[in-house]
Amino acid sequence: MTDLIRVPPPLTEPEPVLNDSLPSTRFLTRRDPPHTANHALRELQEQFHNIIASADVRWTTRYRLIEKLGAGSQGIVFLAERQGAHNISLPVALKVFSPQTHTTSRAYRHEMERMARVSMHLALIQQDHVLDVQNFVKCRGVRMLVMEWVDGFDLRHLLKPATLRSVQSRLSPERVDYLTDVLITDGPQHSRLKPGFAIAILRECLSALAAIHRNGIVHADLKPSNIMLKRTGNAKVIDFGFAFEVADKTAPRACTPQYAAVEVLRGASSSPVSDLASLGYVLVDLLCGMSPFAGMQRFADLITAKKQLPDRLPEFLPAEIKQDERLLALLRGLIAADPANRFPDAEAADLYDHGAANFQRELVKGNLSSEYENEIRLWLQEVE
Ligand SMILES: Nc1ncnc2c1ncn2[C@@H]1O[C@H](COP(=O)(O)OP(=O)(O)OP(=O)(O)O)[C@@H](O)[C@H]1O
Ligand SMILES: [Mg+2]
Repeated sequence: MTDLIRVPPPLTEPEPVLNDSLPSTRFLTRRDPPHTANHALRELQEQFHNIIASADVRWTTRYRLIEKLGAGSQGIVFLAERQGAHNISLPVALKVFSPQTHTTSRAYRHEMERMARVSMHLALIQQDHVLDVQNFVKCRGVRMLVMEWVDGFDLRHLLKPATLRSVQSRLSPERVDYLTDVLITDGPQHSRLKPGFAIAILRECLSALAAIHRNGIVHADLKPSNIMLKRTGNAKVIDFGFAFEVADKTAPRACTPQYAAVEVLRGASSSPVSDLASLGYVLVDLLCGMSPFAGMQRFADLITAKKQLPDRLPEFLPAEIKQDERLLALLRGLIAADPANRFPDAEAADLYDHGAANFQRELVKGNLSSEYENEIRLWLQEVE
């Protein structure tokens, strides 16, 4: 793999030692006699000038694959170490795109060219809750995405009953009670989050969506495994594998049916408001501790269930929140089957009267809010 920035030959760096008899900006190496040391320094200076005067610099980059972080429909994601000078290594995540789901090498290349363009576009966004993309590279024909390593866990993992049980088994009864009150507790199918916690995650995801939508990108695959919680206590939207530029009318359509908006299941292209619906279905899972669509395979069944869901929410929500009109209005504004009845965009979902920000404000007024960033940070220290 080669990182191309600006040219000349590799540099060899002598160990520097300050020579008291010289002005402090000049140095000799401990090993070399003065004349070779001066020669080496002159060469180094020459290379320095070459570098700053040239339009290209290149060097070879090595990555050591450390451990598998996950695998999915598109390939395998590794924690890798990017090796630098003086034996330094920096953690990154590498997604190695598998050619397996493509019928020809041409189809693979074509899709990878599209992914590369989306990645380049994403790299310019720099929003705290959007995954940072660092590079898109080719190694022996296989394409890889170099990205920020998110030190944390995806929501699918955090919602697993086994994850909660394992954390609880290591904590004092008082701490378990506190977590149950404030953050997370058992649900019918998987763990469920308390509303303040779920809405804190929702708001950060909305800010990520607002940023990508403003930049003409649709995520198209929001679901619990594509949202991570960092150890700092913040959410990150990851996996832009199905993402596309709105302007690109040739982008292939793909979705995860359980989290896809009704119009997408009917064949429409994903859009900023279908991303809102997907995020709404994630919120339903988080609050209910179950998916109303678990086990449904047929699109017709999913469409019927999704059309009925806004009216049936109280059946799925836990008793303590099923009458909460603000929360119901927020959920309905996200998951309405007709896109015209949803919030018009991610900013509105946060800032409208029945949006997420106001819901959180009400929790604060009722003294039901917590400092979630810190609560999540502390809790993630207890998760393995
Ligand atoms: N940058 C990252 N830092 C840390 N973990 C990551 C990162 N990217 C992905 N992962 C982990 O790897 C899993 C799979 O990654 P990703 O979602 O990108 O692959 P995928 O092939 O698109 O999977 P799927 O089809 O299930 O969506 C994620 O759910 C997450 O747990
Ligand atoms: Mg994924």
